[in-house]
Amino acid sequence: NDVKAPAVKARRFGARGTAKALTPSVSPFSVRMPVPQVLQPAQSTSSADVYKVVIKPAVAEILPGVQTPVLTYGGQFVGPTIRARTGRPVKIVYGNRLDAPANVHLHGGHVPATSDGHPMDLIQPGEARLYDYPNTQQGATLWYHDHSHGTEAEHVFRGLHGFYLIEDEAERSLRLPSGAYDVPIMLRDVEFEQNGELLFFDDPANRTTILANGAIQPYFPVAARKYRFRLLNASNEHVFQLNLGGREMVKIASDGGLLPAPVPLTELVLASAERAEIVIDFARYPVGSQLVLSNGSTPVLRFDVTRTATDDSRLPGTLRPLPTLPAATVTRDVAMSFDLTGANPIGMVNNQPFDPNRVDFQIKRGSTEIWRVSNADTIGVDHTFHMHLVQFRVLDRNGAAPLPQDAGLKDTVHLPANGSVRVQATFTDYVGRYVYHCHYLEHSSIGMMAQMEIIP
Ligand code: C2O
Ligand code: CU
Repeated sequence: NDVKAPAVKARRFGARGTAKALTPSVSPFSVRMPVPQVLQPAQSTSSADVYKVVIKPAVAEILPGVQTPVLTYGGQFVGPTIRARTGRPVKIVYGNRLDAPANVHLHGGHVPATSDGHPMDLIQPGEARLYDYPNTQQGATLWYHDHSHGTEAEHVFRGLHGFYLIEDEAERSLRLPSGAYDVPIMLRDVEFEQNGELLFFDDPANRTTILANGAIQPYFPVAARKYRFRLLNASNEHVFQLNLGGREMVKIASDGGLLPAPVPLTELVLASAERAEIVIDFARYPVGSQLVLSNGSTPVLRFDVTRTATDDSRLPGTLRPLPTLPAATVTRDVAMSFDLTGANPIGMVNNQPFDPNRVDFQIKRGSTEIWRVSNADTIGVDHTFHMHLVQFRVLDRNGAAPLPQDAGLKDTVHLPANGSVRVQATFTDYVGRYVYHCHYLEHSSIGMMAQMEIIP
């Protein structure tokens, strides 16, 4: 465990690596998909579950027989899964044993500003800090990742990412597939150097290898019954177009939790940082069947139906109504773009790069606002839009009805070239400074981020 952390250098957007990339030759479906370990509390008191996690370098065997240096939460390339319950607070002490500042943001979390992992609020090497998560929100698939300003893209790329799942009582009473049949799957892209190290300093478009829970084209043995899969796109910059070869997947939840009703679909679009939960009923397929989950035409993961099993789980026709939308009293415009006039590109929101000393929007606590968010670049690049603190609703896209992937409670949306969305959010409970930004982390790390301050 005495591995040196990969050097953390300032990222120059678009800078080409000098190292030569390795084209992995891995025989497909030869390793079993790991499921990240569920972390046990170090302590459970009457008021909270307390966890301890160390942020540290480690090695992971991603390519067979190759030890790849990575950065980890708790020594695991896909960090340990935290399972929380609505109404039961969680406290996590994160110790930083990297040689660089790091921090932790709970993506999708409704948490106090002091525990949000603001990009300037860092854990210095050798230090630790406590994050308080009250878990007042409804059940949802959240994730946690590094947000240290300027280095978030490299840190997350090298492995600082994990699941944080919240479940609530109403959801439990629906009796959706649970336990071993409720499986988080982190999908992300990656690229390697010849020596097996991760290749970060290259064009993100060259990250063509896709990992499912850290494995390349794994198989996953399943029983002929219903499963709930919590899909997360943890890539810095990648839009996945997932399909089961034309077979049905039933979407039940978006970023912020359950949809009003299940939505059967054959293709699922997932941009960076988005989540979608699906139910697949393998009882429809005889034992011996193999179903390949692909990104477009590239196989990502194979489900092998290996046995029968009893199934007392349900997929009800209705799940949970969305909260009513209070009337908005403020409308704002947010434009994401690059400044390409200098030697290095600069990311901007409303024509300004991120400045931690500047408050871009002041928002009254309790108010409801509509933000018109647009990709203002003319060079054909994609962006995404992510807001901390809130779950919003997408009212429309490009002036027309939202897309299927915009449905439900959202904290991140895709903004393709020339794209725009109107989103509506209510800012409850907490005051303080939170960021909103492009979740293409190479973009946020060079300034495509801004700051709101919620005031009483
Ligand atoms: Cu997933 Cu500001 O982050
Ligand atoms: Cu962007």
